[in-house]
Amino acid sequence: MKKKIRVGIIGGGTIGTALAQAVVTDLKAFAQLKFLCEKHKEKAAALQEKYKFFARLVPLTELVRRSDLIIEAASPKVAAQVVRLACEWNKKVLIMSVGGLLQPQVVELLKKNRSRIFCPSGAITGVDGVLAAANGKIRKVRLITRKPPEALMGAAYFLKKRFPVLKTFSEEKRIFRGAAIEAIEHFPQNINVAAVLSLAGIGPERTQVEIWTSRSYKGNRHEILVEGDFGMFTTVTQNKPAPGNPKTSYLAILSAIATLKKAFASVRVGT
Ligand SMILES: NC(=O)c1ccc[n+]([C@@H]2O[C@H](COP(=O)([O-])OP(=O)(O)OC[C@H]3O[C@@H](n4cnc5c(N)ncnc54)[C@H](O)[C@@H]3O)[C@@H](O)[C@H]2O)c1
Repeated sequence: MKKKIRVGIIGGGTIGTALAQAVVTDLKAFAQLKFLCEKHKEKAAALQEKYKFFARLVPLTELVRRSDLIIEAASPKVAAQVVRLACEWNKKVLIMSVGGLLQPQVVELLKKNRSRIFCPSGAITGVDGVLAAANGKIRKVRLITRKPPEALMGAAYFLKKRFPVLKTFSEEKRIFRGAAIEAIEHFPQNINVAAVLSLAGIGPERTQVEIWTSRSYKGNRHEILVEGDFGMFTTVTQNKPAPGNPKTSYLAILSAIATLKKAFASVRVGT
């Protein structure tokens, strides 16, 4: 019988908890949940209680060293740290905080690394098309993201800029327009989809991003427009939030589960 791979999960929030469950159910034929890392004491204790027959809590460095596959579901800062360690030890890593991969030192490291980094499509659709199109010439990639105010609160952008005043329920405001690299710098926890799209297509300097908000928005909505030698396509994804977390779309969790399953599948569908 083939040995099961040892999985370690960093971050026991909305995504990490859902993926822990997926590992012990959907992936149990291939993988064992062995290690967990969560900095919030109460969340860590709850996780440990729930998975005490499977995994134990360990510090981040130990988790990376002892796992075959590491799932990062914490923050862009943690993603950069995990990638650095994973490159040193040639590990497989699934990264949710994809913006962390665009930090200059990480970009340099990834050019010469032998580890495997998986970035799920997350809360957007159309990444398959962008990946295919990038083998020809792509002229334009544009992302228009619409999020309710509660999904944007706490972003670094609003430390310097005032959150827009929305006078009526239906009023819509564009709060950001620029390159994906700037969007990720200003909204590190809110616009991972821009990082995924950039990596799949024409890079974070050329990928254009707009972020809109309105109290009337229900869930996060992402529109993507791509033009190139192949022709053009647009996608619209109207997301429902993950239970208990308005910032995270449920599709991001489902997409990560699909990426994990694909890593073990004998038939792999889609680009
Ligand atoms: N790729 C995508 O489409 C996508 C979509 C949604 C969220 N995300 C990103 O995925 C990550 C997780 O999202 P979430 O909704 O689960 O967030 P969450 O806030 O529910 O959970 C994050 C957890 O990580 C823990 N954490 C933070 N730093 C840590 C550290 N140094 N060590 C151990 N634990 C640490 C926090 O205590 C928290 O419990 C976030 O960075 C988020 O921006 C990506």
